[in-house]
Amino acid sequence: MTAPIDATTTPAWTELTALRDTFAPDLRDWFAIDPRRAERLSLPLADLHVDLSKNLVTDEVLAALVRLAEQTGVAERYAAMLAGEHINTTEDRAVLHTALRRPAGASPALVVDGQDVDHDVQEVLTAVSAFADRVRSGEWVGVTGKKVQTIVNIGIGGSDLGPVMVSEALQPYADAGISARFVSNIDPTDIAQKTAGLDPETTLFIVASKTFTTLETLTNARLARDWLWSGLEKTGAIDGSDASRTDAVAHHFVAVSTALDKVAAFGIDPANAFGFWDWVGGRYSVDSAIGLSLAIELGPDVFRELLAGFHAVDEHVRTTPLERNVPVLMGLLNVWYSNFLGSQSHAVLPYAQQLHRFAAYLQQLTMESNGKSVRWDGTPVTTDTGEVFWGEPGTNGQHAFYQLIHQGTRLIPADFIAFVNPAYPLADDGRDVHGLFLANFLAQTRALAFGKTAEEVEAEGTTGPLVAARTFPGNRPTTSIFADSLTPRVLGELIALYEHITFTQGVIWGINSFDQWGVELGKQLALQIAPAIEGDADALAAQDASTRGLLEYYRAHR
Ligand code: F6P
Repeated sequence: MTAPIDATTTPAWTELTALRDTFAPDLRDWFAIDPRRAERLSLPLADLHVDLSKNLVTDEVLAALVRLAEQTGVAERYAAMLAGEHINTTEDRAVLHTALRRPAGASPALVVDGQDVDHDVQEVLTAVSAFADRVRSGEWVGVTGKKVQTIVNIGIGGSDLGPVMVSEALQPYADAGISARFVSNIDPTDIAQKTAGLDPETTLFIVASKTFTTLETLTNARLARDWLWSGLEKTGAIDGSDASRTDAVAHHFVAVSTALDKVAAFGIDPANAFGFWDWVGGRYSVDSAIGLSLAIELGPDVFRELLAGFHAVDEHVRTTPLERNVPVLMGLLNVWYSNFLGSQSHAVLPYAQQLHRFAAYLQQLTMESNGKSVRWDGTPVTTDTGEVFWGEPGTNGQHAFYQLIHQGTRLIPADFIAFVNPAYPLADDGRDVHGLFLANFLAQTRALAFGKTAEEVEAEGTTGPLVAARTFPGNRPTTSIFADSLTPRVLGELIALYEHITFTQGVIWGINSFDQWGVELGKQLALQIAPAIEGDADALAAQDASTRGLLEYYRAHR
């Protein structure tokens, strides 16, 4: 195992510490003295235009950050990942989500641990596409011969957040008259509400689980199966015999998993199961067969375009020098803000209602990846890691939490994402509504960067204590990500951008961004506590006083 390089011991870290100690950010001044700042710091990333100029960095800081990436081996680590080295040390696995989007016929072929990965990926992609086409065309029918009208993806975490986010983002591409619903929570409300109004005869369930052991997903899959059987039996569509029930499952359940034996044990025909591999992390899996719901709802061509977008960014990261490598630079900026300027969270603010689940998706990607206190060799981290990612689409956020970003005491770097052309071009009294929407994106990033001085406030006629209240300090850092429109390709680029930002930060911190041991303890304890909920005295006695008190409250109010 290669030992992680301790970033804090590098010369670049020392340089950055010294720069921070005398740092006096002044975006107004920096823009005034350098009319080319915006141009110099706006970089292309595939179809994205990324403007980094409103970040709190000088050329000196940026150069030192790039040296930090060099001295911590970011490029070498990326090459190791692409080559299939087992960089997921705690699980002894390769990390190859980038292989999922390599184009067919890529040369030379990627062979890892003796396996032709390209061949395996294309085989599953072909199977996913063929199945999606059968459902979309109506060739695949339910047990009573009816075409599928609704697909219900049952999964959680990476087996849910990616598919639901992309489905929402690309709704304008849903062209087959098939709608998708997503059930994730073990709160029975979720499945009850998502199956409400559905016709079992025209519903297809996709059970999506990498491990096929996840409590929430298997519970929901069993509830869905009961719902299907009872619905079909009620109308006489099936007679309730074991054979008729098995036949119903064969027509209305398919699965996506790395554990095809467990899929079969659940009763789903292995012929209707789509596989992937242990080298795809759950939060990196939307571009694997986990995207089956997307291939059905949006079509295999749209799904392949999404993959092409991912690949374009992978190639940018692989071939672009660090100083112009957009995901690396954005990762470095995050390190600057977190480790040197004291920020604790990072906002992602899409000016696109279609991206309303993007921040939720990014929360798993970034926080499950980089929320770690030990490095990949088991030693403690040497600096803070993993910021809190959060966000909401503009302009909704403007009327909720932007106040704190503009005038609060905390430094919150924010990424703004916007698209020139809308999915729905509407006019209000002759005025382009999308133009008005984008004016808000531009206004917010400008206000955050340049603020409003007390003199400017007074010049508008304000006096007294109100002057301070109406002053905006500015120097609130933002990155603007602009694209022509929200196409499948552009969405793939956006997701891959954040994957590689996350990767860059993980390498600098020396952590394994691809395991998630921190979710295990809660899962174990839930299984231990469940009998106490049912009234088991021993299980109740084994709890701490607070948990016991809560269980007693539960039992008293049940
Ligand atoms: O929450 C932990 C986790 O393992 C995630 O990493 C994963 O995406 C999710 O659970 C779902 O796991 P699975 O796809 O195996 O059901």
